[in-house]
Amino acid sequence: MILVTGGAGFIGANFVLDWLAVNDEPVITLDKLTYAGNVENLHSLQNDPRHTLVQGDIGDRDLVAQLLATHQPRAVINFAAESHVDRSIHGPGDFIQTNIVGTFNLLEAVRGYWSGLAATEKAAFRFLHVSTDEVYGSLAKDDPAFTESNHIEPNSPYSASKAASDHLVRAWHHTYGLPVLTTNCSNNYGPYHFPEKLIPLLIVNSLAGKPLPVYGDGQQIRDWLYVKDHCSAIRRVLEAGRLGETYNVGGWNEKANLEIVHTVCSLLDELRPRADGQPYKEQITYVTDRPGHDRRYAIDARKLESELGWKPAETFETGIRKTVLWYLDNSDWVAHVQSGAYREWVQKQYA
Ligand code: NAD
Ligand code: TYD
Repeated sequence: MILVTGGAGFIGANFVLDWLAVNDEPVITLDKLTYAGNVENLHSLQNDPRHTLVQGDIGDRDLVAQLLATHQPRAVINFAAESHVDRSIHGPGDFIQTNIVGTFNLLEAVRGYWSGLAATEKAAFRFLHVSTDEVYGSLAKDDPAFTESNHIEPNSPYSASKAASDHLVRAWHHTYGLPVLTTNCSNNYGPYHFPEKLIPLLIVNSLAGKPLPVYGDGQQIRDWLYVKDHCSAIRRVLEAGRLGETYNVGGWNEKANLEIVHTVCSLLDELRPRADGQPYKEQITYVTDRPGHDRRYAIDARKLESELGWKPAETFETGIRKTVLWYLDNSDWVAHVQSGAYREWVQKQYA
């Protein structure tokens, strides 16, 4: 079996659901269930004997050690993190605590477990750390995309804390021999994305008749990947990645934020037109820019493609249509997130 941390969040939940859809190997999900962790994301696995959810902190070394000893996983996939740049600007403390101190405690618990394994299990064990392209900093318009050998130049409390966690993972490999793999992925979008991030926020605010806030001039560039393609990349790296290596994950889809806003508006005009017949782009509102806003991210994923033969299945056009349709079909999920009802559900379910 595998242990997945942060498996109730956006990417982690997609990963757990996809994992159990493509094979039968059981999963233990360890998640602190912060505001971003939503058990409803894993609702379809409620009665699935292959899945166990444990509420807890990656920083709780005793809990992690006990879980590892009890379940004897062959791999740990670490998604658990504080992940929202804007929140990291308002309150960096939780980011330092989970992303740096938490990762340290997790690594120590995993090292203790791994050291005690028999030779065959020890050789087969993997710790896969899920990270972000934001650790590389910001690119100018004509700079080449980030490769794995770019300098690490994080600019926000979020990206700095993720960069620190990447460094710890690397050091635990070089110093202690822990069999680690790291992935650095570009911006994800897709089902179960918490509606304070750009794409789900646009969909939800459009439908609610609220403003669509564009930071600054809206010309910042992000490189977008459909979440299920990120999940398939992680499965591939887990299966065949070289120990101690870092793999960039991206879909060659650089888009300016304003283009994303217009695409979402046009899709909604087609799929769920406004009652007054006006286009959704009328709701666009320019707001004060994010402090220290990175101008451009772009991922060069050639290492992953050439070494491990990974390719994304979705283009941006197919992925964004699927995403908008998912939000239209799952208005209950959105309503529960917005009202906080998913928290009450957790209390009822796991009391
Ligand atoms: P998310 O915020 O949606 O989910 C994070 C999950 O981790 C939540 O379920 C939360 O409850 C859990 N968590 C937080 N602190 C914890 C702790 N101390 N112990 C246990 N669980 C804890 O984030 P996401 O967008 O799904 O991102 C997952 C990972 O992927 C993160 O490490 C993030 O840095 C990385 N990443 C995200 C993106 C993106 O576009 N969202 C891109 C590249 C990499
Ligand atoms: P976000 O989804 O927060 O991801 P990240 O900051 O990790 O890239 O934001 C994506 C881009 O969209 C980023 O350039 C900030 C911008 N943005 C807006 O213009 N308006 C918004 O309301 C939000 C949430 C983000």
